[in-house]
Amino acid sequence: MKSATLGLPLFGNILGILLTLMLATIALAPPATGQSQPPWNLIPQPANVKPGSGALPVGANFTIAFTGHTESRLDRAADRFLIQLHRQTGLLLPKSARDAAQATLVVHTDHASKEIQELGEDESYSLEVTATGAKLNAANPTGVLRGLQTFLQLVEVSPNGFAAPAVTIQDQPRFAWRGLMIDVSRHFIPLDVLKRNLDGMEAVKMNVFHWHLSENQGFRVESRKFPKLHELGSDGLYYTQDEIRELVAYARDRGIRVVPEFDMPGHSTAWFVGYPELASGSGPYSIERKWGIFDPAMDPTNEKTYKFLDDLVGEMVKLFPDHYFHIGGDEVNGKEWDANPKIQEFKKSHNLKTNEELQVYFSQGLQKIVTKHGKSVVGWDEVFIPGAPKDIVIQSWRGQQSLAAAAQQGYHGILSNGYYLDLGWSAARHYAVDPMGGPAANLTDDQKKLILGGESCMWSEYVNAENVDSRIWPRNAAIAERLWSAQSTTDAASMYARLDAIGARLEWLGLTHRTYYHKMLQRIAGPATPEEFSALRTLANVVEPVKDYSREKTAAAEPTSQTPLNRVVDAVPLESDSGRHFSELVDKFLAGTCRDSAAANQLRRQFTLWTQNDATFVSLAQKSFLANEVVATSRDLAAIGNAGLRALDAIAASAPFSTDQLTQLNAVLAEAGKPKTQLLLMPVPAVRKLVDAASQSGTCTAAKP
Ligand code: ACM
Repeated sequence: MKSATLGLPLFGNILGILLTLMLATIALAPPATGQSQPPWNLIPQPANVKPGSGALPVGANFTIAFTGHTESRLDRAADRFLIQLHRQTGLLLPKSARDAAQATLVVHTDHASKEIQELGEDESYSLEVTATGAKLNAANPTGVLRGLQTFLQLVEVSPNGFAAPAVTIQDQPRFAWRGLMIDVSRHFIPLDVLKRNLDGMEAVKMNVFHWHLSENQGFRVESRKFPKLHELGSDGLYYTQDEIRELVAYARDRGIRVVPEFDMPGHSTAWFVGYPELASGSGPYSIERKWGIFDPAMDPTNEKTYKFLDDLVGEMVKLFPDHYFHIGGDEVNGKEWDANPKIQEFKKSHNLKTNEELQVYFSQGLQKIVTKHGKSVVGWDEVFIPGAPKDIVIQSWRGQQSLAAAAQQGYHGILSNGYYLDLGWSAARHYAVDPMGGPAANLTDDQKKLILGGESCMWSEYVNAENVDSRIWPRNAAIAERLWSAQSTTDAASMYARLDAIGARLEWLGLTHRTYYHKMLQRIAGPATPEEFSALRTLANVVEPVKDYSREKTAAAEPTSQTPLNRVVDAVPLESDSGRHFSELVDKFLAGTCRDSAAANQLRRQFTLWTQNDATFVSLAQKSFLANEVVATSRDLAAIGNAGLRALDAIAASAPFSTDQLTQLNAVLAEAGKPKTQLLLMPVPAVRKLVDAASQSGTCTAAKP
């Protein structure tokens, strides 16, 4: 589940031609840095972009008007649009004046959307911006929502005020299912935090919010039929039914479907606190506080289990109007089944040889219940079983293979393997994973049609309301682009440039993925001097949490849901921008055979700062246990700064390192490269490249910068 399939970077020729045209004609285009520079900061990239000439001024007299089909959802969309435009520009934009003859932006909607948003519903739109006005046309309100976001992304500051470049865009998504899953069970995520994340999803045109509502660590929905589920299974942290309806309506307004997940038959300890009779063991059960895979599982042999689930699903489908209902199905270890003689007996009498076959039996029963209530099942890989109804959707988390295998047998699938946001991968690594990549590339055209898209997953062992935005954004925008834009849109440099821009825009929506950082560092620093705070920031900016599942393995004490998330590892972003920019600078310097003196000077300043940072950091570390925890990493940063300076000196003097010197520096780098307090020092590989380049066999010691 940790392997990513790398897509082949193909440059879109049409895009290249359009780009050249655009750069030649458009006053508002950003500075060109090469052919792969995208048109403006649109993310996801639209399907077709045809630059026009000039730009539409966006001033205080900007108005929006609607023609064709109207409904209150569009009125609310217009209000949101004007609020967002106000936040972007600071302009005071009156709500009134929606006269189409006068309006700056005229939106035409042909007809209503489906009453309940359907998978595959039309989301296309066309947007034409000229120097004198703009027109947005869509078949239905969902397409309008998508187009309004594109318009907002076009508006930029210019020397003459705010403006949107003249352009004609025809756009529609590549995949119908473009989701974000948030696990609200391991750590409870309050409703307002979810709402702002739905705003972020709308901004990048994602259309499915997969709400992972139950787990060993919490059952998070009010059930009136079975109140002990939330009363005893949630520590009081659950959503009322009114709140669920509120969020579903909020999502509907933004063109987002809400797919609830009730994970069964494993991952369900919290259910058993109130209803131990559902379980296969004898209990008693308490809410799980640890992370991992646990033994408790529903009793698949008891008719009462199915009666309970029938009643519960019947209650829950009334809260969640979407056609799809996620039943989980993942990671059942079977230990409670093995330990229960009654279940063993049942297996024998029903000729079920393995626990997998027993789970098939359970899944079939549950699928019948869900189908009876008018819904289709979504489940993790594990529900892909012979005989499953053909209308189920397989969510592939263990690998791309299962997605292709499901499609070969006529099942729909969505990809999540490669899109686990909690693993701490770079945006580029997620971006390189394509639902049609790997084994899916060899499917027939008809089989490919069964692949509906993908979902990023935010598992919440190490996230809470304070840092969750930063674990989702901005990297999630790269996944959103992968799922909306053409498969050939693969230029990571372009993606990163646009990610920076959307990162700023998302904060206007109320997301806190940037502002949280200062607050968390402030807590760590306490009453530090400005210099000490700055030293903490310098260090924090170049570290990342350890990747994949190594956080559990490297913890000093077993982490639980009670462990505070207040350490440096919780505060720093999962992808360090400074680390990435530093590596790019080293690559640029080396690509210029070390002759680029501006780059050399920049590197020297950086290394000097790192070597000097440690003394100030040490004085902070004496005041704060949270800072003190990372004091060894601060020392490592100073050491690699020193190694970098020595490499630059060796290159400048054309005096390559001797073997002994190289051995000594490699030892420094090896030490700095070891994860400490669950942190990786990101510049180490780039400094190593520089040291290698300065060695006898290196490429740069003959060339003075
Ligand atoms: C999963 O990650 N167990 C779906």
